[in-house]
Amino acid sequence: MIYNFADFPYDARTRRKGEGMAEIAPAGIDPTVPSVARMYDYFLGGKDNFAADREAAVKMMSLVPNIREVARDNRGFLGRAVRMLAEAGVRQFLDIGTGLPTQDNVHQVARRVAPEARTVYVDNDPIVLVHGQALLAGTPGTAVVQGDVRDPKGILDHPEVLAHLDFDQPVAVLLVAILHFVPDDAEALNIVAGLRERLAPGSHLVISHGYTGEIGGSTDQQVRALYNTTASGAVVPRGHDAILEYFDGLDLLEPGLVPVDAWRPAIASDAPIDLSRPTILGGVARVP
Ligand SMILES: C[S@@+](CC[C@H](N)C(=O)[O-])C[C@H]1O[C@@H](n2cnc3c(N)ncnc32)[C@H](O)[C@@H]1O
Repeated sequence: MIYNFADFPYDARTRRKGEGMAEIAPAGIDPTVPSVARMYDYFLGGKDNFAADREAAVKMMSLVPNIREVARDNRGFLGRAVRMLAEAGVRQFLDIGTGLPTQDNVHQVARRVAPEARTVYVDNDPIVLVHGQALLAGTPGTAVVQGDVRDPKGILDHPEVLAHLDFDQPVAVLLVAILHFVPDDAEALNIVAGLRERLAPGSHLVISHGYTGEIGGSTDQQVRALYNTTASGAVVPRGHDAILEYFDGLDLLEPGLVPVDAWRPAIASDAPIDLSRPTILGGVARVP
């Protein structure tokens, strides 16, 4: 569905700080159904969310009190991974499950290192598309398209994707905090395999994923029940080994698959990696 900026009750192009979205949803969007993109925006302190999103997010914060910190750590991981890849010479980024624009979006981090870097954003939430298009207006080498991670071929064959990215050259594919919205284990693995098979040597896969923790959480069922009420319909945190499987056949870069805050932190720490608690795990791997 194509939305016209004129349909929106606020100026998506200026995105003035503190302005937020008016509580009137554009046509085609049911504001009473929480969206995982808008809940995440709330966790990160954004204003682009409706009452139902905030209500669900607040419930989530009561179940997982450190969720805002984990969301920020996840963004930190994404930023460090993109910067590292840009510094290593990667010039093309495909960010699937983009989320609403926030600080340090992929193209901004990449272009700080390499102004010629190209980025395509893909998300299935129409509001993400409108905000993304507004943010990117006039930014060369960037695009935002509607697509569903459950259809990797549809993404890879999308004309806008092909217009911006050359799959004969290395591409970094980002699946950051999205695969846990694919409840079927085999389907999630097939998605990653479907994307990987089109990647040239030197390409990279950046994945972060909700993690059960070694002990498991007593709140797990309540978290799942909460996400069942969202437009995405489910959240499935997975164990370390299940997440590690996404990287099979690739060269997993140091420090491996770890809690996102422990992935190449800005301030190095000697603290041992703690896999006991539920969090988000992240890793980056290279296509040999
Ligand atoms: C938790 S946010 C993560 C945003 C960003 N990747 C980050 O980590 O900061 C998850 C995003 O994935 C998107 N998403 C969920 N299911 C999806 C699907 N099946 N296809 C495409 N995008 C999806 C949501 O709309 C949302 O924008």
